[in-house]
Amino acid sequence: MLELKKYTSKNASYRLSVDILSHVELSDHLEQSQRERGFIEDVCKRVQKSSTVLYLLKHADDTLGFIALSVSSIGDFPSLQIDYLFVNHAFRGKPLKILDNLKASTYLIEFAIELAKEIQELAGLRYLVLLPDNHKLQDVYKNMGFLHLPKQEWLYFKL
Ligand SMILES: CC(C)(COP(=O)(O)OP(=O)(O)OC[C@H]1O[C@@H](n2cnc3c(N)ncnc32)[C@H](O)[C@@H]1OP(=O)(O)O)[C@@H](O)C(=O)NCCC(=O)NCCS
Repeated sequence: MLELKKYTSKNASYRLSVDILSHVELSDHLEQSQRERGFIEDVCKRVQKSSTVLYLLKHADDTLGFIALSVSSIGDFPSLQIDYLFVNHAFRGKPLKILDNLKASTYLIEFAIELAKEIQELAGLRYLVLLPDNHKLQDVYKNMGFLHLPKQEWLYFKL
């Protein structure tokens, strides 16, 4: 069964990063895998401090990935920020039947867009934003419909 489990400061244990790391494969490049581990540990600490909320996508015993979201502003515009998007290395680049042939990354981004639209109705919100980890990833997100903010490395999706 497909499950998107929400972790906040109220239900996340201090072992959240250990639990996630024990259920996923990281990149097979050493440097990149260390970077991913660092981001996962950091984002789980932020969950405990109420600075981000993490949505873990699971199917049966498989952890497919997660997205971590927080509130921020771009200029004067309230935004929902993607703090980190992570897909289990075993499922990267693969459309999955259980996700209606979407990749886990696309599924999680679409979930964030839907959530942002709900928040927009409740409290006002202009953009979904993210800061790609590096230049190559900018193109990956642009292919998903994100646009460049003028003179910034941030990308945005207008709601
Ligand atoms: C980014 C991510 C969610 C994309 O997942 P995906 O949509 O299933 O796609 P893939 O992993 O196949 O990556 C798509 C392309 O981006 C590239 N890519 C992925 N992660 C990358 C990274 N950290 N740096 C540079 N390129 C990266 C892949 O090599 C691939 O390139 P290709 O199309 O030329 O083969 C996934 O690669 C991931 O979880 N990476 C580790 C965590 C991460 O870097 N998160 C992004 C933070 S901004």
